[in-house]
Amino acid sequence: MIRSALMNVMTAAALKAGKGLKRDFGEVENLQVSMKGPGDFVSAADRKAEKVIFEELSRARPGYGFVMEESGVVEGTDATHRWHIDPLDGTANFLHAIPMFAVSIALEREGQLVAGLVYNPATDDMYVAEKGQGAWNNNRRLRVSQRRDVAMSLIGCGVPHLGKATAHPRFKAELAGVMAKAQNVRRMGAAALDLAYVAAGRFDAWWERGLNTWDFAAGALLVREAGGFVSDADGGPDFMETGTVCAGNEWIHRELLAILRAAR
Ligand code: IPD
Ligand code: CA
Ligand code: CA
Repeated sequence: MIRSALMNVMTAAALKAGKGLKRDFGEVENLQVSMKGPGDFVSAADRKAEKVIFEELSRARPGYGFVMEESGVVEGTDATHRWHIDPLDGTANFLHAIPMFAVSIALEREGQLVAGLVYNPATDDMYVAEKGQGAWNNNRRLRVSQRRDVAMSLIGCGVPHLGKATAHPRFKAELAGVMAKAQNVRRMGAAALDLAYVAAGRFDAWWERGLNTWDFAAGALLVREAGGFVSDADGGPDFMETGTVCAGNEWIHRELLAILRAAR
């Protein structure tokens, strides 16, 4: 594990928010059967978790800025540090009582990702990384997979939902390209956890477009610290700006980029 003051602060915030999410997740199953459904309940759970994280981090590191999914941008007095926070990544899973969701917290220092945490309260899986200190799942050090043959690879992805219909044609073309080369494809529904799965060597590579920094900033550092590669979907370095991400081990990352390029 990583025992730094910074990681203590981050894990404390995630565990506190996670406790509430775990409790609320238990309620969701009961609410599934009601006519109204759990929609409002889940968005309240989401906002509550973000408030907890914001308060904890503001207290421990006063002055740092925030980029948060629910509350937006909060400028800090310290212009060199910025948190990227998704209090509940995998909302649709949470809503459907699927235990695949996470709290995601990343810290950017002078434009560089220096710490990342992805925590799934349903399974108690804590994934953490700090620049130069490796990536960890609970007490286990993470390494990306060593698979080099794309025909043997398992590729994760994100599927644009109904509201993003303009993104459907490109996604279908890319998926067709991947299906023609890779062993198979997975769509888990939580970008932060998808990247943790790349770091853990479960996915050989993964890609998604149309994301925000809070979805992938923590996971991107996990992958890098596990020895993997992260770029935007065109292979460039600016994924924090473009919101398109391609991650994987050295070989399958390169293969996946070539497949995406050919699908254009
Ligand atoms: C979503 C998840 C999902 C991805 C979406 C994201 P949310 O985040 O990460 O896997 O496909 O693009 O918006 O809304 O559950 O926090
Ligand atoms: Ca998200
Ligand atoms: Ca979210």
